[in-house]
Amino acid sequence: MSEPQRVFPWKVARQFFLIHLGFAMVAVALTGYALRSWVHVNFTQSAGELGTELAQTLARFDGFLLSIFATLFFFAALVLALTTRYYARPLGLLLERARELRRLDRPVSEEFTEDEMATEEPGEWFHLERALGQLHRDLVLKSDELKREREELSTLIGAMSDAILAVDRNGEPLFYNSQFALFFRSPKGAGKPLRLTDTFRVPEVLAGYREVLDSGASKSLTTPMRTTVSEVPRHFSISIAPLRTRDDRSTYGAVGIFHDITELKQTEQIRIEFVGNASHELRTPLTTIKGYVSTLRDDLKEGRTDGASQFVDIIARNVDRMIALVNDLLDLSALDSGAELAKSEISTQEVTETALRSLESKRSARRQEIHTRYGAPTVFADPRRVEQVVVNLVHNAIKYIPEGRRIDIAWEKRGEFIELRVKDNGPGIPIEHHTRLFERFYRVDAGRSRDAGGTGLGLSIVKHIMLKHGGSVRLESKPGAGAEFICSFKATCAAPVVDASRLA
Ligand SMILES: Nc1ncnc2c1ncn2[C@@H]1O[C@H](COP(=O)(O)OP(=O)(O)OP(=O)(O)O)[C@@H](O)[C@H]1O
Ligand SMILES: [Mg+2]
Repeated sequence: MSEPQRVFPWKVARQFFLIHLGFAMVAVALTGYALRSWVHVNFTQSAGELGTELAQTLARFDGFLLSIFATLFFFAALVLALTTRYYARPLGLLLERARELRRLDRPVSEEFTEDEMATEEPGEWFHLERALGQLHRDLVLKSDELKREREELSTLIGAMSDAILAVDRNGEPLFYNSQFALFFRSPKGAGKPLRLTDTFRVPEVLAGYREVLDSGASKSLTTPMRTTVSEVPRHFSISIAPLRTRDDRSTYGAVGIFHDITELKQTEQIRIEFVGNASHELRTPLTTIKGYVSTLRDDLKEGRTDGASQFVDIIARNVDRMIALVNDLLDLSALDSGAELAKSEISTQEVTETALRSLESKRSARRQEIHTRYGAPTVFADPRRVEQVVVNLVHNAIKYIPEGRRIDIAWEKRGEFIELRVKDNGPGIPIEHHTRLFERFYRVDAGRSRDAGGTGLGLSIVKHIMLKHGGSVRLESKPGAGAEFICSFKATCAAPVVDASRLA
């Protein structure tokens, strides 16, 4: 506790002292004068006439009286000074308390003692001082509480990933958080006062704030807005609420929370497209099957069986296509759902040969030549998934390059990575398709791919498998110069297995 700074009310004390001293002086002077007059009158009457001796005696008496009353006056002044101090001191302490009320940043000083308050028993001064002291303590506590709440609120607002902007009735900003500054304040505007119209040129947002300020009711809207963080506009879901005074609940401003829903929108868009594409891909073979089944039924009713075997082949091909599509969709969903991989140190040759065996009939039908090279003998990966990667890439090459061409499969160690390279000498893939090629259902030439039995999921599955392995896939291709798909696996090995028999 800091020692309170003692204050003495000099002005009041001086006035109090001088007024009372004046009264004392008048009282002493009047009393002295009256006594002198009485003595003079009585002596003069009894002596008959004023002789020289009597005149000298009276003059001595006057001198004596003057010194007596001067001494009396001196003592009266002394007593008055002490009394003034006695009564003025508590006022000084109260002044001190009153001053403390303004200094809320200071700790509350100790309570004055009754002794200090110069009262023998708790009186009005004392109670007044106590009341002021209590008031001060309450104010300090409230002010501390307010400071803490403000600190917590500003930390909370600062840490929010949503942008916040509050404005007054004229649209002038009251406050905004760091996320708002990040999204909407250009570096050029830093340091200058923010104006709502400068910040957003989006009429919907301005109208939204205006509507809330006018009506006093909350409002939500969704709109694309330009930001300083990306070239393309981002989508925001904005909730604007009125700011009301505590007393009469009148609207003095509005606060808007800007929630960035760009990713959500993109995900939603991808989902919509995915459902549309999947349904479309399933409907095509189903329509074909339905058509051939009804033709077959009509033929059988009429006893005709000549085209039946061809129709059944077409139906079977379309059923296979649907099964392949559903399997691909299930694969993608399994990869998405976070199912764990069964990783181990596997032989690159073994896994590649297993994949090639399953493609042998397709390869020989198109008379493609396949060459393999195993620069990296092993890779730490899930064998079933690696086989799927090889099948998808090699099958694409078999399908999309002209008959009788060459496909090269190579496993190589490059720095920290083991790379699987599948290269063909087909027509290649134009550069404009490269960024979208790994998206679900994306095909360079949808008609041709569908004829080749493709649905556009193969490369998307490859990408997901690689990402799950902590790796990546990329394409190097120039039109006319073939295509090369490069899958990079991390070259991390499993902990070496220690052969216990060798330790002995
Ligand atoms: N080696 C390649 N040469 C030329 N184009 C290719 C090659 N590999 C893929 N493509 C093109 O990329 C597209 C996407 O391939 P992806 O494997 O994802 O789908 P798909 O083969 O059509 O169908 P799915 O693999 O699901 O049966 C193909 O449709 C094809 O146009
Ligand atoms: Mg494919």
